[in-house]
Amino acid sequence: MNLIKVKSYDELSTKAASIICAQVVSKPDSILGLATGSSPVGTYKKIVEKCAAGEVDFSRVRSVNLDEYVGLDGSHEQSYRYFMDTHLFDHINIDKKNTRVPCGIAEDLAKECADYDAYIKSIGGTDLQVLGIGVDGHIGFNEPDDHFTLATRVADLDESTIDANARFFASRDEVPKQAITMGIGAIMSAKKIVLVANGKAKKEIIEKAFTGTITPQITASILQVHPDCTVIYSEE
Ligand code: GLP
Repeated sequence: MNLIKVKSYDELSTKAASIICAQVVSKPDSILGLATGSSPVGTYKKIVEKCAAGEVDFSRVRSVNLDEYVGLDGSHEQSYRYFMDTHLFDHINIDKKNTRVPCGIAEDLAKECADYDAYIKSIGGTDLQVLGIGVDGHIGFNEPDDHFTLATRVADLDESTIDANARFFASRDEVPKQAITMGIGAIMSAKKIVLVANGKAKKEIIEKAFTGTITPQITASILQVHPDCTVIYSEE
């Protein structure tokens, strides 16, 4: 595992965007696993700039996102489909038909989760998975537990996650209590992983997750055994 500490959010975003774009340049039909949250926003902005400058071509790229809130339609401003469209997909030359985000309003959520895992398996896993990290050490919405869960599933959100994500909603009551999340199996099957985190609030969990014991109480800690994982952290 490679832990890179940088001085600013701008540096973090530049570094992460350059790794993701290098992946697409070297393999134009790459399959990218993508993440939401505030940390990757700058990264996506830099990717949009590089694409506009003609440095990278997303026309053959496919993507799968990590998670989606249960109950939110893709047109809801806080849905992760809406986030991906507005921060990235609408501004690069990716074919949206090739972008997949779990459907949070699927009638049969269990089937949606099973189909999602089957799809990831059928495409041979992702070439590069982008991740953020929650204040409780979650990746995707894999919350602290007494075991690691491999499968994509509907997860109950921890109170600390609901608190952290309430800032994006009009009130805490509006934050969905459940989400579909890619499991640890699909995440760890990525050939390469880039995790981005910024802000002092993440300092303690970054240390615990990446220098401490590997435990399902801090799901990100499992990344310590991934063969190609880069963590980019800025305190800013
Ligand atoms: C949400 C997402 C995670 C993300 C986390 C951290 O909980 N499900 O995938 O990593 O937020 O987000 P931020 O970067 O805004 O702290």
